[in-house]
Amino acid sequence: MVSIASFLFSVLVPNLIGQIWSAGDMLSTKKTFLFLSFFFVLTTLAQAGDEITRNRPGLSLRETFDLYVRTIQNSDLQGLFTTVTDGDDFFFLTSDGRILNRDEYYEFHQGWFKETDWEMPVELLKVREGKEYGYTNAIFYYRAKTPNGETYNLDSYFTLIFRKEDGMWKVVADVCTPIKRYISLPDTDIEYDMDQMYLLKTIRGRRTVRKYKPDPVPDEHLKKILDAARYAPTAGNAQPWKFVVIKDRSRLDSLSQVLLKSWEQRITAHEGLDKEKKKSYIESGREAIKDAMTAPVYIMVFVDTTAYPKYALYDGCLAVENLMLAAKALGYGTGFFTTYFPEEVLKPFVKAPDNLQLVCATPIGIPQEWPEMPGKKSLDEFIIHESFEGK
Ligand SMILES: Cc1cc2nc3c(=O)[nH]c(=O)nc-3n(C[C@H](O)[C@H](O)[C@H](O)COP(=O)(O)O)c2cc1C
Repeated sequence: MVSIASFLFSVLVPNLIGQIWSAGDMLSTKKTFLFLSFFFVLTTLAQAGDEITRNRPGLSLRETFDLYVRTIQNSDLQGLFTTVTDGDDFFFLTSDGRILNRDEYYEFHQGWFKETDWEMPVELLKVREGKEYGYTNAIFYYRAKTPNGETYNLDSYFTLIFRKEDGMWKVVADVCTPIKRYISLPDTDIEYDMDQMYLLKTIRGRRTVRKYKPDPVPDEHLKKILDAARYAPTAGNAQPWKFVVIKDRSRLDSLSQVLLKSWEQRITAHEGLDKEKKKSYIESGREAIKDAMTAPVYIMVFVDTTAYPKYALYDGCLAVENLMLAAKALGYGTGFFTTYFPEEVLKPFVKAPDNLQLVCATPIGIPQEWPEMPGKKSLDEFIIHESFEGK
């Protein structure tokens, strides 16, 4: 890269002199003064410009640190690497605990510098310049705009260790210690930490999954998922649930047969459908049941209606949502299945007593693929402020 200073001296300045000379008249004192002032300003600017982009012998450790920061803030990869050692003892401890070598450090910045819409103000806390080694400690405030207009914030301590190499200070180690990660919103001082964001993201990311991979769900995961279910609220704290877990493949296959038979019978007996419709409904049901039964585990959720017959079903639904969110957090899909899983089939299949009512059947398993989120109405459509009056 041609430096600004060398560009000025080799191209711009001779050009300028030529133009003034060819103007024909003698250089007046005023003109000379103006020319020299202009020359001085340009030279100063050029030197400042060169300082921004390149390390060079004689810079203090503090100046090298400033250069390091500026080149990062300007996404200037070449400039940045004039401040980094060529030695293979370099290491970078990332905010997520990885140790990168020099090449990986280069790739890290190369990838990052392609991103736009971020800034990183820096607050220098400490500088120590020794004879051969020195260090700086600073807080780097990384701010990146997210696609939905929020800002991702990562505040970290950066300890940079410098070594003198050929008269220049070079970074030989870069240790990042994250202090705080959070999301902030425009026009408010409300912040969300990553735990809060994770919970909200899990809720948004839960999907009804209708086809699964055969990979088994470890019992430990199953236990965690069912354990989450039992923390749901219940009327009078009745906790009226029974979770029937079916994971024996031969049992799942025979359930599949029973469900299919029941579906065929129900469609065949349906009086409002012509022959063609019945055939196509039976076929689509067969496919849906076959896909749904690819899951390695099924949970039949029942509630005991004895204590609070009116509320038992609410209790059941709340537990199912807990179960689904816990499953999502562990990487599994679920589904609130009812149509192909009627109570009159499932109760006898698991020999459930009369006092139990079926809430739903849900598979648990790794999705064949996570479905796109189906259309969701906007929040405004649901919220009534204070009262329906006048709405
Ligand atoms: C009471 C209830 C009954 C449902 N019954 C079925 C069903 O029989 N078969 C099915 O595939 N999905 C069923 N679902 C899942 C919905 O179709 C699904 O939640 C909806 O399409 C939204 O998709 P999402 O869960 O991915 O957000 C049911 C959901 C609820 C709450």
